[in-house]
Amino acid sequence: MSPDERKKAAALAAVAHISSGMKLGLGTGSTAKHFVDAVGEKVRKGWDLVCVPTSESTRKQAESLGIRLTTLDETPVLDVTVDGADELDSELRLIKGGGGALLREKIVASSSRKMIVIADDSKKVPVLGKFPLPVEVVPFGLKATGIKIDQALAWSGNQGPMNVRIRDGKPFVTDNGNVILDCALGRIENPEKLAAALSSIPGVVEHGLFIGMASLALIATEHGVETLKK
Ligand code: 5RP
Repeated sequence: MSPDERKKAAALAAVAHISSGMKLGLGTGSTAKHFVDAVGEKVRKGWDLVCVPTSESTRKQAESLGIRLTTLDETPVLDVTVDGADELDSELRLIKGGGGALLREKIVASSSRKMIVIADDSKKVPVLGKFPLPVEVVPFGLKATGIKIDQALAWSGNQGPMNVRIRDGKPFVTDNGNVILDCALGRIENPEKLAAALSSIPGVVEHGLFIGMASLALIATEHGVETLKK
């Protein structure tokens, strides 16, 4: 199976966890895209689903498939959010934000009774951190915020270069008008301590550590889809 076929297999496995009448959070990225396609298919068959997208790109995809959308203002509590991840460990701690949608992804997941992660097996790691940790930062005071992030990294026992994410030669701007600092840490020591330290910095809008949020992961391997539970 190609990596994309595995992503699709994980996404299709998540369909078994949804049913007509549910309120869903729709993730962002190439794996979540397969899930949104599958939701579109169910809607075409007459399922009653209402969804909150986690990014403008997912919104466009969902709209093109005729999926009924809502907002967290109209629908503040969702049944399930299904989303991809850049990394996950055996405790279902995640790194997310490779696609730059971490803020809305975290708001939507934390407004859901259940978060299901879908991924191919390349995302499962013994220790988080090989994937650079995305930190969404307000552009105002970027350098000063970066210094505080460095201090938070050191305080939590982590270190590594931090780079402003660049796309097409210019800083990548999130759906919320912010920029992303990617922190290449190699391995993250004490993710909980790092998460708390990053969250306390003025100017940091959100970071890509999702801890205690996912309760189920569907990981597609060469031999089928593996279920990991918290
Ligand atoms: C976007 C994300 C994605 O879920 C993550 O980057 C995984 O993406 P993909 O499924 O394309 O590998 O966090 O912000």
